[in-house]
Amino acid sequence: MRIDIITVLPELLESPFNHSMMKRAQSKGLLQVHLHNLRTWAINEYGQVDDYQYGGGAGMVMLCEPLVNAIEELSRQRSYDEVIYLTPDGKILDQKTANYFSLRENLLIICGHYKGIDQRVRDHFVTQEISIGDYVLSGGELAAAVLVDAVGRLIPGVLNDETSALFDSFQDSLLAPPVYTRPSDFRGWKVPDVLLSGDPRKIEEWRQEQSLKRTQELRPGLLNNEQGTTS
Ligand code: 6GU
Repeated sequence: MRIDIITVLPELLESPFNHSMMKRAQSKGLLQVHLHNLRTWAINEYGQVDDYQYGGGAGMVMLCEPLVNAIEELSRQRSYDEVIYLTPDGKILDQKTANYFSLRENLLIICGHYKGIDQRVRDHFVTQEISIGDYVLSGGELAAAVLVDAVGRLIPGVLNDETSALFDSFQDSLLAPPVYTRPSDFRGWKVPDVLLSGDPRKIEEWRQEQSLKRTQELRPGLLNNEQGTTS
């Protein structure tokens, strides 16, 4: 998979993809992430990419021209399955959407800033509008890091058995069960006996129960297919 990201702050995205799982995905040749500085397509020598909004009001709006020139130039080089605009008024990212994106070949991500981008770019070029939650960030870059991580780790071949996504929270609309490691007794706080029993059937049963219990307690909406749903 190839992901192209258009941003006014490429520096902010240089580190997040160069560690751990994202690094592994890239060195395995399963993921390529390319950052593009929107100022390359600025409308003048001052590097202008935004302007005041029509109708008045505080805050700048990202101009059509640099964005459309960037999108069109990149689109001549490959065909994008989705053009994703990251915005707090988008559809909230969930595991189902991450799964969907992980099976695409080429994604183009646009990071918004200021008051956002001119509506005409959304109307004519953007195919998916995504938010990472009901709060406002100062720009789409951190959201892009979240999206690329959530999607990248699901690309077939990125995870091995050890790190399999099959048992992630949300993958089957349930939260993951509690986990423990050594020592079995820390300050008198003991690991549940069943995990030390060596009986795989019992352990699996216990994990299922715990998943269900946790989900009922913490995120009952997941069981009723409400907000935060994955199916
Ligand atoms: Cl995608 N962008 C911004 N600026 N704020 C957000 C967001 C995105 N998702 C949640 N808050």
